[in-house]
Order: sequence, then structure tokens, then C-alpha cells
Amino acid sequence: MDRDEVLMAANQPAKLAVIAILPFLLLSYGVSNAGCSTIPDNSTDVLSLLDFKHAITDTTGALNSWNSSVSHCLWKGVNCSLKHPGRVTELSLGGLGLACPISPSIGNLTFLETLNLTSNSLSGELPPLTRFHRLQNLLLAHNSLQGDIPDAITNCSKLNYLDLSGNYLTGEIPRNIDLLTDLSFLYLSVNNLTGMIPPSLKNLSQLEALVLNNNQLTGTIPDGLGQLLNLLGLNLGANNLSGRIPGTLFNRSSPLYYVDLSFNMLGDTLPSDIGDTLPHIQSLYLGYNMFEGNIPASLGNASELTKLDLSSNDFINKLEANDTHGWEFIDTLSNSSSLQELALGQNQFQGAIPNSIGKLRPAFQLLGLGYNDFTGAVPNSIGNITGLTALELRSNNLNGPIDGWVGKLKHLQRLYLSANNFSGSIPSSIGSLSKLQYLHLNENKFEGPIPPSLGN
Ligand SMILES: *[C@@H]1O[C@H](CO)[C@@H](O)[C@H](O)[C@H]1NC(C)=O
Ligand SMILES: *[C@@H]1O[C@H](CO)[C@@H](O)[C@H](O)[C@H]1NC(C)=O
Ligand SMILES: *[C@@H]1O[C@H](CO)[C@@H](O)[C@H](O)[C@H]1NC(C)=O
Ligand SMILES: *[C@@H]1O[C@H](CO)[C@@H](O)[C@H](O)[C@H]1NC(C)=O
Ligand SMILES: *[C@@H]1O[C@H](CO)[C@@H](O)[C@H](O)[C@H]1NC(C)=O
Ligand SMILES: *[C@@H]1O[C@H](CO)[C@@H](O)[C@H](O)[C@H]1NC(C)=O
Ligand SMILES: *[C@@H]1O[C@H](CO)[C@@H](O)[C@H](O)[C@H]1NC(C)=O
Ligand SMILES: *[C@@H]1O[C@H](CO)[C@@H](O)[C@H](O)[C@H]1NC(C)=O
Ligand SMILES: *[C@@H]1O[C@H](CO)[C@@H](O)[C@H](O)[C@H]1NC(C)=O
Ligand SMILES: *[C@@H]1O[C@H](CO)[C@@H](O)[C@H](O)[C@H]1NC(C)=O
Ligand SMILES: *[C@@H]1O[C@H](CO)[C@@H](O)[C@H](O)[C@H]1NC(C)=O
Ligand SMILES: *[C@@H]1O[C@H](CO)[C@@H](O)[C@H](O)[C@H]1NC(C)=O
Repeated sequence: MDRDEVLMAANQPAKLAVIAILPFLLLSYGVSNAGCSTIPDNSTDVLSLLDFKHAITDTTGALNSWNSSVSHCLWKGVNCSLKHPGRVTELSLGGLGLACPISPSIGNLTFLETLNLTSNSLSGELPPLTRFHRLQNLLLAHNSLQGDIPDAITNCSKLNYLDLSGNYLTGEIPRNIDLLTDLSFLYLSVNNLTGMIPPSLKNLSQLEALVLNNNQLTGTIPDGLGQLLNLLGLNLGANNLSGRIPGTLFNRSSPLYYVDLSFNMLGDTLPSDIGDTLPHIQSLYLGYNMFEGNIPASLGNASELTKLDLSSNDFINKLEANDTHGWEFIDTLSNSSSLQELALGQNQFQGAIPNSIGKLRPAFQLLGLGYNDFTGAVPNSIGNITGLTALELRSNNLNGPIDGWVGKLKHLQRLYLSANNFSGSIPSSIGSLSKLQYLHLNENKFEGPIPPSLGN
């Protein structure tokens, strides 16, 4: 199906690896450059660094400072231990265009606490991980690394922040990853990982972010993930996960702010108390799955909800203007909430859009109701949502004129009304929507001339 822009916009976060809301914890490294000048330049760490330099291609000369005129502890991106002079505790060379494989010698930097080679063009396999007993931050994201994540990663027993996202890693997530008991941030998104989500993840009680989206993970969501009481963000989007959302996943006493399960093959009904058990949820992306049944009214209780995507599922038949139960969550949300995006497109909703849609706050930005079976006229109250930037109503059975509301939505950038039964004239007030970029009116019953104001 021709995937519309509104839905794409609503689903953008599902395609990204980032959880922007999570605070990044910078650790105190407790290191300094003191004492480096007394270190013999034949020490293991110098040789490892030189091996690293020789193995890579440094087209921009980023490593020109890596020469014998100064101690290696003063080289760009290098930091050394205070207690153990000359031992390298940090190697941070992000975004420097470094290419080619990472020398295995890097695995000899046994005092490393931070290895950050994010956003280069490094290829080959992960460096040997068996001797990184002090490593707390391992960031190799956004490179071209291949091969498996070795079981030996569990030797990095102090690991707190692991980010290998945006590579070509294959194979399974190590089953015994729960040996990394200090792990707080696990980012493995946008790779080619296969197999199941390891049930042992439930043992990682410190975990705050679990981000595994855009892989080829299969099987069900492990029950035990509900035990991760420190979890703030969960992204399992764009995998091949099936089954239902485990009842325990959202049944928790601690807040979860971000959940993305979109673009999977998950099904069954949503937990009816989802809005009560996730009172602090801000972004909930469940689109492009096979969920069915009703939209739980309890979602109305999630008063911090900003983005809700339920598009392209099999939700049916509940959203009728005369059926207060169906739209109940909208009524509640609209009163108190910070809701900005609501995507309900590509389901099987029927009935009329209620007058109460106008209760959505003016700060509300994106409404996607396309590809359903909504009927009747669009209530003029929709003109109250003055902050709307995108309105997607395409492919329904909506009718009647649009001149009662369209001119009020001054911030509209995208307006999709095609493939309905809208009638009457094309209002000249559309010409006052100065921010409009996309206007789709085709396949309707509009009559009369095209207003000259459209030229504005
Ligand atoms: C390393 O350097 C030290 C001090 O300059 C020297 O005494 C030692 O022999 C050298 N070791 C090797 C293997 O070259
Ligand atoms: C060696 O590194 C220093 C900085 O540490 C730099 O000033 C100097 O230009 C470098 N030498 C060469 C030949 O690149
Ligand atoms: C090395 O450590 C010092 C003190 O902790 C810090 O200020 C400095 O930014 C570090 N250097 C690098 C290249 O990370
Ligand atoms: C890693 O490097 C990237 C790119 O230079 C930087 O944005 C990020 O803050 C670094 N993270 C850590 C933990 O050093
Ligand atoms: C350094 O690493 C290489 C490659 O892993 C290994 O062959 C070598 O023995 C190591 N050297 C030391 C001194 O540990
Ligand atoms: C490192 O990991 C390997 C493979 O998991 C294991 O056999 C080995 O005993 C570990 N070594 C250390 C020093 O922890
Ligand atoms: C990884 O996945 C991408 C996109 O799905 C695919 O194009 C590529 O061939 C895969 N690579 C490997 C090594 O499986
Ligand atoms: C971790 O999880 C596994 C699998 O769910 C379980 O069998 C094991 O007992 C747990 N280990 C610890 C230390 O809790
Ligand atoms: C994942 O799902 C896609 C699309 O349904 C399918 O093409 C692919 O073969 C599946 N991969 C696995 C590993 O099941
Ligand atoms: C959720 O937790 C409550 C209290 O611990 C419990 O009574 C209830 O059965 C749980 N529901 C599910 C679906 O696990
Ligand atoms: C709502 O109206 C439709 C017809 O417009 C009717 O079929 C349906 O039974 C009504 N639902 C309720 C709950 O009244
Ligand atoms: C739309 O806004 C007007 C005031 O601007 C208000 O009187 C009316 O109740 C609103 N409509 C709805 C359906 O909330």
C-alpha cells in the first residue's frame, strides 16, 4: 500500500535508534594525564595504539598527533590512568572518518574504561573483548562492523553502556548477556541480529534502555521484561516478533516513558489496563502489527501521552460518534493531556468522527485517520485544533462540505482528503493556509472552480 506521509511522520521514531528522552549518564573516569612523561614508549599500550593506527585508514589526518614527540597519553582521544601511569583508560575517536578494521591489538588495552569509536567507517569484526575487565562504556555504533557479538563480551563485567547499533552484526544476542550485571544501556538496533530476545535480559535489573529495533529478531517478547523496574525506554520495533504483549510487560510499579513495538507481527488485544499501568508513558508506538479489538479506554488515563500510534492494525468498529465508549480515551486525553500525535490509520474503524474531536488541544499537531471506514461529515469543531500541521483523512467514506473548518487550520502543512465523498466547492480559504506543502483533494465530489487564492 502507498504509505502516506502522515503515517510515516508518526512512525519516524520507530525507525530511529535513539531514545532522545533518556538522560545520558556521563561517568566519572577518575583519570588524568599526570605522570605520562615517565612512561617508556615501548609499553604494551603504546604498541596497541600504534597497531590500531597502522591498521586503519585516516584520510583526514585525525591521528597526526599520534607521534613520538609527546607521550601517548597526550594523543588525540587518549586518556591515561592516574594510578597506573601510562595505562590507557579512554580511547574516544568518534566521527573522524576512520576506516578499515579495528586492530585486534586494541584488546590489549586492559585498563580501558571507555572505548568510543562511534560514527566512523570501521569494518571487520568486533575487537577481542576478553580482556576488558574495567570497560564501562563500549560505543562502536554507526560503523560497518560485521560478524557476531561474541559470548566473550560477558568478560567485560563492568560494562554499563553498550552501543553497537547501526552496524551489520549478525547472529544472536548472547544468551548469557545477563552476566553483565551493571548494564544500564543496551543499544543493538539497526543490525542484522536474528534469533530470540534472550529471556535472561530480565536479570539485568539496572537496565534503563533496551533498544533492539530494526533487526530480524523472532519469537515472542519474553515475559520477564516486566521485571526490569529501572527501564525507562523500550524499543523492539521493526523486527519479526510475534505473539501477544505479555501481560506482565506493562504491569509495573515504576515509570516507563517510551515504548516502540511497531512494525512487528504482534497480535491479540491490548491489555485493557494499559493506560493505568503506564501512567507516565509519553510515546507509545504500536502501529503496523496485528492488534485487534478495542482501543483500551484506559489510554485516556495516560495523561502524559504525547504520541500515540495505533495505525495499520486490525482495531475495529468502536469509534462511532454515538458510541461514547469508543472515543472515551480521546475525551479524557483531550481534557488534560499533552497529546500531540494520534495515528489511527489503516484499521477498520467505522462510524462518524464525533464533535468532541474539537476538544483536542490547540497544541495537538498530527491526526491520522486515513484508510478506515469513517462516514458522515467532518465536524466543524475540528477547526478548533488550530495547531494541526498534518491532517490525514484519505480513503474513508467522509462526505459533506469542508468550508466550515478547513480555513481555520492555519498551521497545516499536509492535508490529505482524497478518496472520500467530500462535496461542495473548494473553499477559497485554503489559500490562507500559507504553510501548506501537500494538498490532496482528488477522488471526491467537489464542484465548481478552483479558487484563484490557491496560488497563495
Ligand atoms: C623498554 O624501554 C625501557 C626504558 O627505555 C628499556 O629499559 C627496556 O629495555 C625496553 N624494553 C624493550 C622490550 O625494548
Ligand atoms: C606530532 O604531534 C604533535 C602534537 O602532539 C603535532 O604538533 C605535530 O605536528 C606532530 N608531528 C607530525 C609530524 O605530524
Ligand atoms: C581526559 O580526562 C580529562 C579529565 O578527566 C578530561 O578533561 C579530558 O576531556 C579527557 N580527554 C579526552 C580526550 O577524553
Ligand atoms: C562517543 O563519541 C560520540 C561521537 O564523538 C559522542 O557524541 C559521544 O558523546 C561519546 N560518548 C561517550 C560515552 O564518550
Ligand atoms: C596484543 O594483542 C595481540 C592480538 O590480539 C596478541 O597477539 C598479542 O600477544 C598481544 N600482546 C600483548 C603484549 O598482550
Ligand atoms: C573470557 O571469556 C571467555 C569466553 O566466554 C572465557 O572462556 C574466559 O574464561 C574469559 N576470560 C576471563 C579472563 O574472564
Ligand atoms: C542485513 O540486512 C540488510 C537489510 O535488511 C540487508 O540488506 C543485508 O543484506 C543484510 N546483511 C547481512 C550480512 O545479512
Ligand atoms: C537469569 O535468567 C535466567 C533465564 O530466564 C534464569 O534461568 C536464571 O536463573 C537467572 N539468573 C539469575 C542470576 O537471576
Ligand atoms: C521477517 O519478516 C519479513 C517480512 O515479513 C520476512 O521477509 C523475513 O523473511 C522474516 N525474517 C525472519 C528471520 O523470519
Ligand atoms: C498486575 O499486577 C497486579 C498487582 O501485582 C496483579 O494483581 C495483576 O494480576 C497483574 N496483572 C497481570 C496481567 O499480570
Ligand atoms: C450508532 O449508530 C449506528 C448507525 O448510525 C448504529 O448502527 C449503532 O448501533 C449505534 N451505536 C450505538 C452504541 O448506539
Ligand atoms: C471549539 O472551541 C470553541 C471556542 O473556541 C468552544 O466554544 C467549543 O466548545 C469548542 N468545540 C468543541 C467541540 O470542543
